[in-house]
Amino acid sequence: MKLAQRVGRIQPSPTMAMAARAKALAAQGIDVIDFGVGEPDFDTPDPIKDAAIAAIKAGFTKYTPPSGTDELKQAIIRRLETDQGLRYQPNEVVVSCGAKHTLYNLAQALFEHGDEVLIPAPYWVSYPDQVLLNDAGPVIITTRVEDGFILDPRQFESAITPRTKALILNSPSNPTGAGYTRGQLEPIAEVALRHRVIVISDEIYGQIVYDGFRHISIASLSPEMKALTVVVDGVSKSYAMTGWRIGYAAGPAPLMTAVANIQSQSTSNPASISQKAAVAALNGPRASIERMVAEFASRRNEMVRRLSAMPGVSCFQPQGAFYAFPNVGSLYGRRHNGTVIAGSQSLANYLLEEARIAVVAGAAFGDDRHIRLSYATSLDKIRKGLDRMEAALAKLK
Ligand SMILES: Cc1ncc(COP(=O)(O)O)c(C=O)c1O
Repeated sequence: MKLAQRVGRIQPSPTMAMAARAKALAAQGIDVIDFGVGEPDFDTPDPIKDAAIAAIKAGFTKYTPPSGTDELKQAIIRRLETDQGLRYQPNEVVVSCGAKHTLYNLAQALFEHGDEVLIPAPYWVSYPDQVLLNDAGPVIITTRVEDGFILDPRQFESAITPRTKALILNSPSNPTGAGYTRGQLEPIAEVALRHRVIVISDEIYGQIVYDGFRHISIASLSPEMKALTVVVDGVSKSYAMTGWRIGYAAGPAPLMTAVANIQSQSTSNPASISQKAAVAALNGPRASIERMVAEFASRRNEMVRRLSAMPGVSCFQPQGAFYAFPNVGSLYGRRHNGTVIAGSQSLANYLLEEARIAVVAGAAFGDDRHIRLSYATSLDKIRKGLDRMEAALAKLK
C-alpha cells in the first residue's frame, strides 16, 4: 500500500512512546516510576464530573455547533478577560478536541508548501511534526539556559525570511518550565509586528506557575499584537482533564472561521458532555487549581533540589508547568557494563533498564544535552525515583 508522502515526514509522539514503554513494563509486574507522563496525577475535581453526569442525565448527548457551544465560548471569553484583560467575540473562539487538535487545526488553516514556521527550542514535541504534516518547514531557533531558555529577540529577527509565516511561542514552556515576563515579551512582540509574523501563543500551562510568577499573554500587550496572535489554551492541565479532550483558540475572526470550517469537515464538535464539564471548570471556584499548584510547587522544589545535587547534573528552576529539564550532557561518554551513554536517548534507555524510571530524552524536544522528568507524580515517588536515578548515575564511570 502506498501511503501519502506526508506520513513519512513524522514520527509517533516520543512522549507517548515512552509512556507506552513504561506501561508495558508495569504490566509485566515491574515496578517502574514514571516521570515521562505529561498529565496531572490528580483526579478531575468532583464539581466538574458532576456537571458531566448532569449533562448525560439531561440528554445533552447530541451534536453541538461544530466550533463549540455558545455557553462554553462565553466561559472561555470570560476567563480570557478576567485573566488577561483580553476581549473576544464568540466568532473569534473555536473549541476543539484538546489543545493539540487546536494547534493542528491552526496549522491546517495557516501553513502551506514553502512557508517557514519559527519554533524556539527546546520545544514541545508536536510543533515541528504538525508543521511538517501541513507541508511547511519548521525553522528551529535554539535558546540557551543562560538566557533562562527565553527567545532572544535578535535571534528571532535574524531567523525571519520572506517565507516566515508564524512563530510558535509556549509560555510557560514544556519541557523547560520557562515563563516569559512582560519585559521579555515586549521586544519579541515588536519584532513580530515589524515583520508581520503571526504568533501562535500556546498558553496551556498559564495557570500552573510558581513563586508569584504571573503568566502574561503576548496578545495582551497591545491591540495590534492581539490582532496578530492566536491564543491557544485548554482544560487538560489546569483542571486535571486530559482525557476529556477540550482545547480552544481565540484569535482574529477570519482565521477562526477557517478553523471552524476545517473542524466542521473533520471532527465536528468536541464531545458535548466534555463541553459541559469544561464550562463547570472555567466558571467554577479556583480553589482546586490553587491546591494542585501548591502541590506541584513542593514537588518542583524537591525534584530540582535533588537533581541539582547529583554529580554531573545541573537543573534550571522552572517558573511554571510541571517538568524539570536537567542538563546531563557531562555524563555523555561514560559507561556501565558495556553500555555507553552516547546521548539523551541512551541515558533514558539506561535509566529505564538500570533504575526502572521512565524519563523522556531531550533530543525529542530539540536539545540532546537534557532529559525531561515530569513531577506530576507524588512526592513519595519523586523521592524513590530520584534515589534510584542517583544510584544508577553513580555506577557510570
Ligand atoms: C505545550 C503543550 N501544548 C499543548 C498540549 C496539548 O494538550 P491537550 O491536547 O491535552 O489539550 C500539551 C500536552 O502535553 C503541551 O504540553
